[in-house]
Amino acid sequence: MDLKTRLEKREAKIGVVGLGYVGLPLAVEFCEKGMYVLGIDNNPKKVEMLNAGKNYIGDVDDAKLKKSIDEKLFEATTSYDKVAELDVIYICVPTPFTKNKEPDVSYIISAAECVAKGLRKEQLVILKSTTFPDTTEGIVQPILEKPGLKVGEDFYLAFSPERIDPGNKKFTTSNTPVVVGGVTEKCTELACMANQIIINLVVPVSSPKVAEMEKLLENIFRSVNIALVNELARFCDRMGGIDIWEVIDAAATKPFGFMPFYPGPGIGGHCILIDPYYLAWKAREYDFHTQFIELAAETNENMPFYVLGDIRRALSEVGIPFEKARVLILGVAFKRDIDDTRESPALKVMHFLQERGVKDIIYNDPFVPKVENNGMTLYSQDLTEKTLKSADVVVITTDHTEYDAEFILEHAKSVVDTRNLTRKAKKNLDKVIKLGSGNRY
Ligand SMILES: NC(=O)c1ccc[n+]([C@@H]2O[C@H](COP(=O)([O-])OP(=O)(O)OC[C@H]3O[C@@H](n4cnc5c(N)ncnc54)[C@H](O)[C@@H]3O)[C@@H](O)[C@H]2O)c1
Repeated sequence: MDLKTRLEKREAKIGVVGLGYVGLPLAVEFCEKGMYVLGIDNNPKKVEMLNAGKNYIGDVDDAKLKKSIDEKLFEATTSYDKVAELDVIYICVPTPFTKNKEPDVSYIISAAECVAKGLRKEQLVILKSTTFPDTTEGIVQPILEKPGLKVGEDFYLAFSPERIDPGNKKFTTSNTPVVVGGVTEKCTELACMANQIIINLVVPVSSPKVAEMEKLLENIFRSVNIALVNELARFCDRMGGIDIWEVIDAAATKPFGFMPFYPGPGIGGHCILIDPYYLAWKAREYDFHTQFIELAAETNENMPFYVLGDIRRALSEVGIPFEKARVLILGVAFKRDIDDTRESPALKVMHFLQERGVKDIIYNDPFVPKVENNGMTLYSQDLTEKTLKSADVVVITTDHTEYDAEFILEHAKSVVDTRNLTRKAKKNLDKVIKLGSGNRY
């Protein structure tokens, strides 16, 4: 039976390489449609947990995962031995950057090499990891063709970027449209068919390069707009008398042509901070400098340093020398209501404080019980009256929904608010230095 028929009959076996924030929800969605999924991850701990029915991704429903395992629709393994038994293989491995902010596509290369060993005719490989244009055709395709198979004839290859928004309850895998660009028309057609099993709207584009660039545009769009409001927040602080948050809320009443973005302590996560550098790096190969994009990255990356300035100011106002201060960081996840600390600006603030001689740093995060950060191992403290009172300054770096601004302000000596959490408070506002507020309250 050819692949098209197997997809139509929903008899295709699915492989998901990389069972993280992207791969695991994808695997579970296919199981929900009654399809068999083999998950491959080189982290034995994750594989062990999954096979025991234990979930580690917030967006994945525990019961759905357990059901998939009990019904033998899902199994996880560290081995690529069964690749030949699969029909569609999604690659969802990390694409970080190096210390000097150059793309690191070694995970994609390694996964593609392992898949190539088992590749056979009538298989479809879909790369989902965010990356620079020409990764699919320029890097993955030659690896997969090495054993002697030809793309578009023997096997099929496409790029289909992920749009999952961890923590978003409204837009999940099935109701978030995805883009697909195949190396050939048949590659696109088959990749669309595979995606349509679990996603309501699939949008084909003319090539993998268009799909790769499209994903970068989405994230660079966010980076540039966040940089713009970060710049305006700093200007409001410089000029005084204007609160950037009020300005944004007012502008957002325009029903067309405006989309609100908010300032903060910097950008974190595996996407918006990293992806602009992927494009900037690729552009240099063509003697092209993406100045606009790099200016946005620079503006955003200055924000944790700006927050340090506010912390110094807060401490001097309560009369505590910087190095002797106890600093309580509220929220180490890079955004609200999730547990992901990758590239988190809060961790940068903590690191910079430590580098500048602050020894007593504690944190609370209801989603992150423990953090390892530049040699420091810290455990989340309960957010009690005592914890708040013990700190010389409380720094709100993530506005988790359960944070109660009134409670924090009642017990803290001083507060640096980088997320506008304190807008909800009515009392004790004289304790707050808020980013972009144009002054103290
Ligand atoms: N997290 C998001 O919100 C998000 C959204 C859109 C796109 N993306 C992109 O999706 C990709 C994956 O991101 P993620 O957040 O799921 O990463 P993740 O780190 O949560 O998961 C990746 C998984 O791949 C595994 N892995 C690494 N190398 C492997 C290999 N050679 N073979 C098998 N498994 C391997 C890791 O152990 C890990 O479990 C990245 O390119 C990212 O930019 C992420």
